[in-house]
Amino acid sequence: MAVFDKILKHGESIIKDELVLDYEYLPKIIKYRENEQAHIATCIKPLFEGRQGKNLFITGSSGIGKTAAIRSIIQELEEKGLDDQVTPIYINCWKKDTPYKIALEICDQINYKFVQNRNTDELLKEITKILNKKTAALFFDEIDKLEDHSILYSLLEDIYKKSIFLITNDREFLSNLDNRIRSRLTPEKLEFRPYNYNEVLGIFKQRVEYAFYPNAIDKETIDLLAKKTYELEDLRIGLFLLKEAATQAENSSSKIISLDHANNAIKKLSTFKSNSSDNLEIEKKQILSLVKNNPNTTITDLHKLYQESGGEKAYRTFFRYIEELEQNGLVSKEIPKEGSGRSTIVKYGKKLTDF
Ligand SMILES: Nc1ncnc2c1ncn2[C@@H]1O[C@H](COP(=O)(O)OP(=O)(O)OP(=O)(O)O)[C@@H](O)[C@H]1O
Ligand SMILES: [Mg+2]
Repeated sequence: MAVFDKILKHGESIIKDELVLDYEYLPKIIKYRENEQAHIATCIKPLFEGRQGKNLFITGSSGIGKTAAIRSIIQELEEKGLDDQVTPIYINCWKKDTPYKIALEICDQINYKFVQNRNTDELLKEITKILNKKTAALFFDEIDKLEDHSILYSLLEDIYKKSIFLITNDREFLSNLDNRIRSRLTPEKLEFRPYNYNEVLGIFKQRVEYAFYPNAIDKETIDLLAKKTYELEDLRIGLFLLKEAATQAENSSSKIISLDHANNAIKKLSTFKSNSSDNLEIEKKQILSLVKNNPNTTITDLHKLYQESGGEKAYRTFFRYIEELEQNGLVSKEIPKEGSGRSTIVKYGKKLTDF
């Protein structure tokens, strides 16, 4: 049997370091987010001077570096030993979605071990005691996934000197907060905008250099993948494309990633399954870019185009996605006058009257 001879040939790999293409991988420098990181640092700065920090509400669509920018700030705080003065806490509220789970996670991050048989209030008392010895920068990522906001109230009330950061895709999130929390929080606002084409290209080049052996991918292929990533406004998808194109090349024992491999990776996007929510986001983004590239097109025709490009959802689901995109202010429907015999047209962006 020579089945494995072909797939296990040594020394012919294109990928030098696969981890670099992982979503969790954090590059040393988060390019093009210097201004956003500076804004975050300004909110924490008063804490170093023993004063009250500022709170910040961070928004922006998926896969554009919000979490990466924050993780890299926390890493810098720790590397420079500044966590002596300001304790950084990072919580992903999608994973820790109740006050109790958050309290446990904070205990873990501040190394408080006596958590057995203690309820949320008891844990919070210990947390407060420890955090109040210094100051604290608390980052709540994916905050819209937290159903019970009471822990925010407790932290706002009981931690003396802190900065609280709320991060979400949902621009309207603050309006869901109880007035008593909102008025204590009074955050500044910071919106992350999607990367432009040159920025996507710059980030790609940095990753390609670390991930692949020299000359494994040429400029034209990088350009194609960067263009697709720019259209979908999501670097997470870009990383998937780079990895998928490299895998396609390796599977066909090619020493370079060709345009064909890149195109195959792009085709795979619509069947991309990492987890269901990611998948949904990707599907919606593809629909959004379809609307963007086909101005003044009716929903029925858009659905046809969507199916032609490999989309599998039936009209009803497609219609619901369009409605969700509309609720997020990303597209708007132009409903024709009754009796005009015309169909509903979908436009990219908000209606002017919505601003
Ligand atoms: N400027 C950058 N340089 C290098 N890599 C980046 C940059 N911006 C984003 N990335 C990478 O792109 C991926 C997505 O970024 P990130 O997780 O920060 O997105 P996000 O804005 O938090 O998205 P979501 O709202 O879905 O959580 C990550 O793997 C991240 O490392
Ligand atoms: Mg994130």
